[in-house]
Amino acid sequence: MILIKLGGSVITDKSAFKRFNKERVSGLCREIKDSGKDVMIVHGAGSFGHVLSKEHGLQNGYKSKEQISAFAKVSRDVRELNLMMISELIDAGIPPVSVPTGSCFIMDDRELIMNNDEIIREYVKLGIVPVMFGDVVLDRKKGFGICSGDTIMKYLADVFSPEAVIFVSDVDGLYDRDPKISKDAKLISEVTPDIMRTIPSETTVADVTGGVHAKIMTMLDMCSDGRDCILVNGTVDGRLRSLLTGKDVVCTRVRKKG
Ligand code: IPE
Repeated sequence: MILIKLGGSVITDKSAFKRFNKERVSGLCREIKDSGKDVMIVHGAGSFGHVLSKEHGLQNGYKSKEQISAFAKVSRDVRELNLMMISELIDAGIPPVSVPTGSCFIMDDRELIMNNDEIIREYVKLGIVPVMFGDVVLDRKKGFGICSGDTIMKYLADVFSPEAVIFVSDVDGLYDRDPKISKDAKLISEVTPDIMRTIPSETTVADVTGGVHAKIMTMLDMCSDGRDCILVNGTVDGRLRSLLTGKDVVCTRVRKKG
């Protein structure tokens, strides 16, 4: 099984509140289907989640009553996005089922608790693809918080031991400097913990769950011997399909050892 996260930067237009990239998503779903691979899918929230969450500081937990209506709106908005994702997957011939993180699980001081993952296991056994997503989630210590798709990926990778883990984003991979600022920024095709120590953490996009640097740190955490953890650009046609079918593509591979 291959675990794939379709990031919010690909499935939505992050600069426009609640704009779904329908065509791109449809293409990516077809690429996944065409590859013939067995997959599990997680998706991000993009502009359906980050905008309001940031405005109301939902990532910091419960602070005031006025956040409650924002919580409800974000919860609704990411479910709206999820439903569109589910429809695109079905249209591509993949049988998905929505498993909303905030409705099924809880956090404890920002840590996702998934003690009972029976529903996910049973869906997988039946050949139904559970689709989880970045969501607003209850938190035992903080009242509530944001659970990113990356956190969900970490959990699913631990439990299901996928052969590969793929993060689909809108960048070719990790650069040694911020490519939006430095013209001569170089793509790092293979990242190890040693290389990570030399990369400034400002090479990130500011959103409530961190950017590329934070993502690579999560990916490093998910690598086990023999398991590839890959960051690939999903805005380029066919790249995900090529990666899934074992072709050489532009991407960043994250490895524990050098
Ligand atoms: C964020 O999830 C969830 C909310 C803001 C509610 P992600 O962190 O996985 O979303 P993207 O992929 O960065 O958009």
